[in-house]
Amino acid sequence: MKLRVTPISRPLTGRYLPPGDKSISHRLAILGGLAQGETRISGFLDAADTRATLTAMAELGAAVEESDGLICIRGGRLKAPAAALDLGNSGTGMRLLCGALCGHPDLVGQELSLVGDESLSGRPMARITRPLGEMGARIRTVDGHAPLGLQPTKLRGIRYVMPVASAQVKSAVLLAGLFADGDTAVIEPGPSRDHSERLFPAFGVELFDAAPGIGVRGGQQLEGGRFHVPGDLSSAAFVIAAGLLAAAEQGIELANVGINPTRDGVLRILRAMGGKLTLSQAEPIGNEPVGSIKVQPSALTGIDIPAEWVPLAIDEFPVIMALAAVASGTTRIQGAAELRVKESDRLAVMSEQLRRLGVRLEETPDGAVVEGGSVRGGQVDSAGDHRIAMSLAVLGLVADGPVEIDHAEWIRTSYPGFVDDMRSLGANLEWLD
Ligand code: S3P
Repeated sequence: MKLRVTPISRPLTGRYLPPGDKSISHRLAILGGLAQGETRISGFLDAADTRATLTAMAELGAAVEESDGLICIRGGRLKAPAAALDLGNSGTGMRLLCGALCGHPDLVGQELSLVGDESLSGRPMARITRPLGEMGARIRTVDGHAPLGLQPTKLRGIRYVMPVASAQVKSAVLLAGLFADGDTAVIEPGPSRDHSERLFPAFGVELFDAAPGIGVRGGQQLEGGRFHVPGDLSSAAFVIAAGLLAAAEQGIELANVGINPTRDGVLRILRAMGGKLTLSQAEPIGNEPVGSIKVQPSALTGIDIPAEWVPLAIDEFPVIMALAAVASGTTRIQGAAELRVKESDRLAVMSEQLRRLGVRLEETPDGAVVEGGSVRGGQVDSAGDHRIAMSLAVLGLVADGPVEIDHAEWIRTSYPGFVDDMRSLGANLEWLD
């Protein structure tokens, strides 16, 4: 479907609440399905990716009930599903589930298959099958890609030094470690989001310090509990970007935004670009820090983004590139080759789409150099990537004519309410077919 964004005729105003955090929702669906007893979740992200993980857990035997926005999972006993588990577009769902299932004692001796859509089937899986294989897991891939064929078996703990900072790899190995003999530890080259480490103890799982990494002892029981999912900073990032470009002077107020320090790179980068963001800490939700953010219109300036901030803002580079296109001066992104193996090759796709809107930039092997200026209206394409679609939509607010985004329906994977939320702030977005 095509989404048309008409440049703003009056500044954006209002209060905004982001949808539930995608990473935390995936983890709660999986941990809730693995845990004994009942897990009650409010604020679970209702989007295609997290639904796919929840459905997979139900197909694996967890009892999942929903009423009034509350999800109740009764887990603890898994069975082999009748058919392949379809994780759709979701790398987190596939990688974390693969870790959780490949040594699960209830599944030993069974065969399972994990499948995904075309984008997911093109993403690298060797990054998880390598360490899981070292633990003894039997996982078939097609040249290092999905579909994955699992033959769950007894695992042994390992100490794994990760070549790239990746919360999905770290979490997959730790989840497998729950069912392994002995200790499993992961050591990252730099910090990645730590939601798994924050959630494990809430399910009664003890982690140990494996400095400079983190470890889990095998054979621990998980116990369900009550959880609330904070708002997703990665979804809020589109509204933050919209506010910086097009808010009224008094700003837009965002509340209930997750501000976990392993995820807040986007705030650091946008502040360094001159973004007026006023943060107030609120009560944490569970183990997760949460805040309110006031976003005021700002004159942005290009910067050299420090490579050590990249993993802390890994999902926000499409929207950061969009903002760089209308900042004054040059923005340099480096150390971001991981962007090439996301839902699309985000460096290549964003570069091509921005060029269509008249932006001058150079794509490099691990980043881009974006020359800021103004953007014109035009036709662009999401290339099946939700975050590309939303980033281009934000840029459409300040283009010199309408921006029409093909295949924008992919927004549903992480943020089905995006168009309505933007409209409620005064933006003019409409579906064309
Ligand atoms: C995620 C980790 C990141 C991120 C993804 C969600 C997670 O992926 O890009 O959207 O929930 O663990 P990588 O682990 O590949 O960096």
